[in-house]
Order: sequence, then C-alpha cells, then structure tokens
Amino acid sequence: MSGRVWVGTSNRGFAQQAQEELKRLLGPAVRFGWLAPGETFWFQSPLNREETIAAIQRQEPIFLRHLFPADAEKEWTGTSEEAIGAVCGLIEQERAALGLGSSIAVQIRKPEGESQLPAPSSLKAELDVLLEQEYGLRPVVRESDWILSVYMTRGRLYAGITRPEQNISDWSGGAVRFRKEEGQVSRAKFKLLEAELAFGLDFHSYRQALDIGAAPGGWTSLLLERGLAVTAVDPAKLDPSLLGHPRLTYLAKKADEVKFEPGKFDLLVCDMSWSHRQMAKLVLQLAEALQSGGTAIITVKLMHKKAFQSIREVEEDLSGAFTLQKAKQLFHNRDELTLFFLKS
Ligand SMILES: C[S@@+](CC[C@H](N)C(=O)[O-])C[C@H]1O[C@@H](n2cnc3c(N)ncnc32)[C@H](O)[C@@H]1O
Repeated sequence: MSGRVWVGTSNRGFAQQAQEELKRLLGPAVRFGWLAPGETFWFQSPLNREETIAAIQRQEPIFLRHLFPADAEKEWTGTSEEAIGAVCGLIEQERAALGLGSSIAVQIRKPEGESQLPAPSSLKAELDVLLEQEYGLRPVVRESDWILSVYMTRGRLYAGITRPEQNISDWSGGAVRFRKEEGQVSRAKFKLLEAELAFGLDFHSYRQALDIGAAPGGWTSLLLERGLAVTAVDPAKLDPSLLGHPRLTYLAKKADEVKFEPGKFDLLVCDMSWSHRQMAKLVLQLAEALQSGGTAIITVKLMHKKAFQSIREVEEDLSGAFTLQKAKQLFHNRDELTLFFLKS
C-alpha cells in the first residue's frame, strides 16, 4: 500500500455516507477498508497530508465525525509493550516539532468487544507517564496543543499526531461526552448541547425560544438554563420539574394547532421524531413567528438511510423561509442528524 493512510469514524451505521463524503472531497481514487464495520475504517487519500486536511476543513463533512493520519502503522500481536514501542518511536521522530513542555491529549480506541487488546484507559495512563517523564510533554485531557490518536485492531495498530483542529473533532473519535446531571429531564438535552458547540452558537445571546416537539423537556430545560424565555409546544407532557418555571409557556398542543405573532422568537428548535417532510411543513407554517436572521435548530429523522436525499429535501422544503448554514450528524444523534438554519 502506498500513500497516506488515515483512520475515519462516523456514527454507527453511517460510515458509508462518511465514505461517500470523502470520495467527493478527495476524489474517486480514495480507497477504504474496515476497522470496526459500519463505524471506523481506514482510507487511503490520493492527496498528501496537508491537502487532505485542507479539503476536509474547507467543507466539513456531515457524517465523518473524526479522522487522524496513520503516521505510524504496524502489524502487532496486541501487547501494551508493542503499542508503547510504536508510540515512542513516533514521538522520537516528531520530538523537535512537538516542542518541550507542549500539552498533549492521548486518545486511544479499539473496536467494541475486543477484550484481548489492551484496555485504552490503562494504556493511556502508562503513556501519559512516559510522555511526561521521558519526553517533557504535558499530558492533558482537553484543549491540548497536540493530540496523539491511537486505534488498535487485532493485528494492526495505527497512531498519528495532529493539531486538535485537524481531526474535525478534538474529542476522542469525535465522541462528545457530557456529564449526566442529577434530575436531568432527558438524554435529548445532550443533542442540543452538542449542537450549540458544533454550530458555534451561544444560546445565552438569545431571548425568546420556540421549542416544537418539546416533551419531556430536555431542550426546553437547557434553554431555560441559558436564560431564555421558552414557549414549549407538545401534546405530550413536559416533565413536572419544569412546569412552574417563570420563563416557561407550555402549550399542550400539536404544532399545527398553534399560532404566534410575527417575529416573536429569535430561536426556533424542533426535535419531533417525524417524517422529515411533514416536519418541514410544520416548521414552515411557523416560520413567520421567527424574526428575520433568527436561528433554527432542527433534528431530521433519516428514513431508510437515504441521508443525503433527506437533507436536500428538507433544505428545499424550507428554502422559502430559511437558509441552511450547516448540517451535522452529531455524536448524540441516532438515526437522525441536526440542521442549523437562519431565517431569511
Ligand atoms: C424526541 S421527542 C423530543 C425530545 C425533546 N427535545 C427533549 O429534549 O426532551 C419528540 C416529541 O415530539 C412530539 N411531537 C410529535 N408530533 C408532534 C406535533 N405534531 N406537534 C408537536 N409535537 C409533536 C412528541 O410528542 C414527542 O414528545
């Protein structure tokens, strides 16, 4: 095999879409092989390292969640000693570029269920000590100068060093982890938290939100925490812990049964688990209630995995009132993705 090999990761079941994106960005000559079927794969880019990174950064993929270059790739029998040897070899090679005292985040992964391979957490602990004591680097978990990524399979090990912004996501494998809070209304809250990060938004800067399909209220609770007044629409019940909130208006109705004064809201969020075209129709009916320039965050169910077609259809259906800014399958999305629109 010649040319630069990379490790790419998507949400489970969406690697084919991630590979399609890579073909579009890097050219049809890109080649693939599975590391964890449906989720993690190697790919050989026809472009060099800088060109590959630039192509990905120019147009961020929707389904490719994370990537790193295999600066070191070796056959191995699966022992910690071999992994440490391979990583130290790579660090020696890059020592001058890394710079003494730089911070480095070690991110180690393996396919689920590979119990014979070293545990990523204990390998990371060993490497952190070595990187500090032998190489004068500063191991950290987040906001590092460098990321050392390692992917282990039975038989092959891949390792690469990058700047955090070169991996699409600076979380290990793009798996964004939030701490579950006591009394958290729903796990769906993580989707909106992740959307805030992924789309570079700060919900503190908004005032009035309309939450369509709000129950049980994870998204509503986040927006209330950010200081917004929230109108939550859902025929299903909101969590009782939210009901007395002074900035909450709860309308126990379907989205097509409510109407608001034009421009009342500066943020519209919609997380209805509905057919994407029906959802787009309902959002369009409520579009007038959103100020011009207002933000809309919308979850789109991916029916029958016709993912790109679903995005195109929602974009087209909403094009009379909204302009798509970014589409991203978030780590917390399952068979869905999240769209960020601005009201035209
Ligand atoms: C995935 S849940 C939303 C979870 C919510 N974002 C949270 O954070 O807790 C989808 C919700 O959409 C609601 N829904 C479905 N059809 C609706 C409609 N036509 N109008 C309003 N809500 C609807 C359902 O009742 C359900 O509560």
